[in-house]
Amino acid sequence: MAALTEWSTFLRQSKAQFTTTGAIGPSGPFLADSLCRELRRPNRGPWKILEAGPGTGAVTRRLVRYLRPGDTLTAVEINPQLANFLKRSFRDDPSLAPYAHQVEVVEADLLHFEGKSHFDTGVCGLPFNNFSLDLTQRLMETLERLLKPGSLLSYFEYLAIRRARLAWGKGEAREILGRLDAYLVNRERLLGEQPEVIWWNLLPAVCRRLRMPARA
Ligand SMILES: C[S@@+](CC[C@H](N)C(=O)[O-])C[C@H]1O[C@@H](n2cnc3c(N)ncnc32)[C@H](O)[C@@H]1O
Repeated sequence: MAALTEWSTFLRQSKAQFTTTGAIGPSGPFLADSLCRELRRPNRGPWKILEAGPGTGAVTRRLVRYLRPGDTLTAVEINPQLANFLKRSFRDDPSLAPYAHQVEVVEADLLHFEGKSHFDTGVCGLPFNNFSLDLTQRLMETLERLLKPGSLLSYFEYLAIRRARLAWGKGEAREILGRLDAYLVNRERLLGEQPEVIWWNLLPAVCRRLRMPARA
């Protein structure tokens, strides 16, 4: 029943706000688990964890399983309906309520989220392939500002979607996507670590990991 409500809420918002939602459904458990891998590190101290774009909480549900005493999770969601859904879930859903004291769901555009070197790791669900190069760059710079140097940012994209759209796209749309592709490929080349392909997901996806650079 909870899964049905989650799916129907996600689908409604995906239809209403496809550019920011950018997915046909919530992430599956294998993708969610891959995105949470950094939290399973042995012998880590209490961490401040950032989740950008939690949606209905498909990844959040997995993240909370890996919270240790003293950890906090801040989930920043731009869509008020989705942010409220997630806030309600932490209040009413018996599988999430026990973690509520460690979790803050913030309704905000990540771009306006203040702070510097605040988080020890970040998990990001933002659909960069739906965004312009300018917006993607600003969001990546925001994530880099919020995360500590040396920390890991994990994010995902659907497998080969960008490449397929580049191959079949035309005109200005193709040029825009080409610039985005060059930027993301270069980030991966500079900062990327061990991407992981997740076949068991609707749609198959790749979990990408970027190690945040030291600051000058
Ligand atoms: C592809 S969905 C991912 C949802 C969820 N993490 C999952 O994997 O099922 C992208 C989410 O990012 C949110 N989002 C998009 N742009 C955002 C922004 N600038 N700041 C915060 N959240 C944003 C959307 O509203 C949506 O919930």
